[in-house]
Amino acid sequence: MSIDTADAILRTGESQLSLPLLHSTEGSDAYDVSKLLKETGRVTLDPGFVNTASCRSAITYIDGDAGILRYRGYPIEQLAEESTYLETAYLLIFGELPTEGQLAAWVDEITRHTFVHENVKRLMEAFRYDAHPMGMLISSVAALSTFYPDALRIDDAETRMIETKRLIAKVPTLAAWAYRHSRGFPYVYPQNDLGFTGNFLSMMFRMAEPRYVADPVLERALEVLFILHADHEQNCSASAMRSIGSSHVDPYSALSGAAAALYGPLHGGANEAVLRMLAEIGDVRHVPAYVERVKGGEVKLMGFGHRVYKNYDPRARIIKQTADSVFEVTGRNPLLDIALELERIALEDEYFVSRKLYPNVDFYSGLIYQALGLPVGMFPVMFAIPRTAGWLAQWLEGIVDPEQKIARPRQLYLGSDERDYVPIERRAAVEAASVA
Ligand code: ACO
Repeated sequence: MSIDTADAILRTGESQLSLPLLHSTEGSDAYDVSKLLKETGRVTLDPGFVNTASCRSAITYIDGDAGILRYRGYPIEQLAEESTYLETAYLLIFGELPTEGQLAAWVDEITRHTFVHENVKRLMEAFRYDAHPMGMLISSVAALSTFYPDALRIDDAETRMIETKRLIAKVPTLAAWAYRHSRGFPYVYPQNDLGFTGNFLSMMFRMAEPRYVADPVLERALEVLFILHADHEQNCSASAMRSIGSSHVDPYSALSGAAAALYGPLHGGANEAVLRMLAEIGDVRHVPAYVERVKGGEVKLMGFGHRVYKNYDPRARIIKQTADSVFEVTGRNPLLDIALELERIALEDEYFVSRKLYPNVDFYSGLIYQALGLPVGMFPVMFAIPRTAGWLAQWLEGIVDPEQKIARPRQLYLGSDERDYVPIERRAAVEAASVA
C-alpha cells in the first residue's frame, strides 16, 4: 500500500491538517484521519460507519456495485463450485489455499475437536423446551470460555490457533443440539468418520439408525451454503467480533457477541424474517398488495437490500441454483412461488430499481433450510455455523494488527450543559417554573 500525502487538506481556523490518501488493492481508497482529534480537537460523525474503514484487512473483498465477492482474492463462484467449507475456512484463516497435506492435517484437527464437555450438554438441557436455538447457541458458545480458561492468552499464537480450531469444530455440535432440544429429541454425538456437513446432518437428523448417511446432494448443498456464508468483510457481526476482541477478551466471549449481532432481523436474522414474511403473504395473488405496503413504508421487504451490494448479491444467485438441486430431493417448497413473484415484481418496480434494492443472501437461503425440515428459529444458527470461520479470521487479523487499539468511538454530544443537582422534594417546583 502506498501513501499520497496531502491529497486532502483540512483547514480549521489558523491550522491545517493534511489527510494522507491510503490506496487499497481494489475498492475505495481511504483518507487517514487518525491524527484529526489530536491536531484539531474535532471528530468525524459517521452514524452506522457508512463512510468509515475501521481497519486494514486482506481477507474479503466486496464490490457492491459490480456484485463481486472474493475471499483472499478467489471469486465466491469458484469457491462454491470447487471448494469445501473446511478448505475455505483454511483459506480465510491462513490466507492461502492449503496443499493436500495441509488440508488433511487441518480437517483431522478440526474433526478431533467436535466433542464438547458433558457439562455443556447439561447446560443446554437446562433451557426451556421452546428456547430460541440462537439464544442457546450464543449462551453455550459464551459458556465454552469457562471450559477453556487458557483461551484468555490471546497473545500466544499457538493458543489462538487451538481455540480457532475448537470453535470451528464445536459450533456445529452446539447448533445441532440446540435444534434437537427444540424438538425434544436426544442429542446426537459427533460421528467423526463423516465429513463436516455430513456429520452436522447426522447430529441434526439421526434417530434410531446406528449410522446416518446424508443424501449427497443435500450434503453438497449445505457445503455450498456454508462456503457462501463464511465471511463478508466488516459487517455488523464481524465488527462486533473485532470490537469485542479489541478488549483482549477470549475468542469464545467475542464470538458469542458476534453471534448475538448476527441474530438481529436486519442482519443474519433476516432469513427467518423472510420466511415469516412469505408465510404472511400466503399466496402469489397477495404479492402486489404486499409490495404496495412496502412502498408505503409500512413494512420492509425482508431479504432485499444491502448496505454494500447495490446490485444482485452474488451469493443469492448461487443459492437460487442450489435451491433447485435441493428441491429435487426434498420436493418443491410452496413458498418458492411467492418468493419468485416478489422478486419479479420488485426487480421491475421503480421503487426498488431507483433504490438499487436486490435480493440478498437471505432471500432464498431460508427456503432451502425449510425444505431440509428446519424450523425458522434455526435459520440464523445455520448462518452462524459457517460464519464462525470468518469471525475468527477477522479476529486473528485484528489481534496481531499493531495499528489496532481498543474500539472506542467518540460522540457528538447534544445533551444538557452542566447543571446543579435538584433535591427530589424541589423537582416539581423547579419543573413548573421552567414550563411557565
Ligand atoms: N424494503 C423496502 N425498502 C427498503 C429496504 C427493504 N428491504 N431496504 C432499504 N429500503 C429503502 C429504505 O427505506 C430507504 O428508502 P428511502 O431512501 O426512501 O428512505 C432506501 O431503501 C435506502 O435504505 P437504507 O435503510 O438507507 O439502507 P441501509 O444500507 O441502511 O440498510 C439493510 C441495509 C439494513 C440491509 C436494509 O436494506 C434492510 O433492512 N433490508 C431488509 C433486511 C435484510 O434483508 N437484511 C439482510 C441483509 S444481508 C445480511 O445481513 C446477511
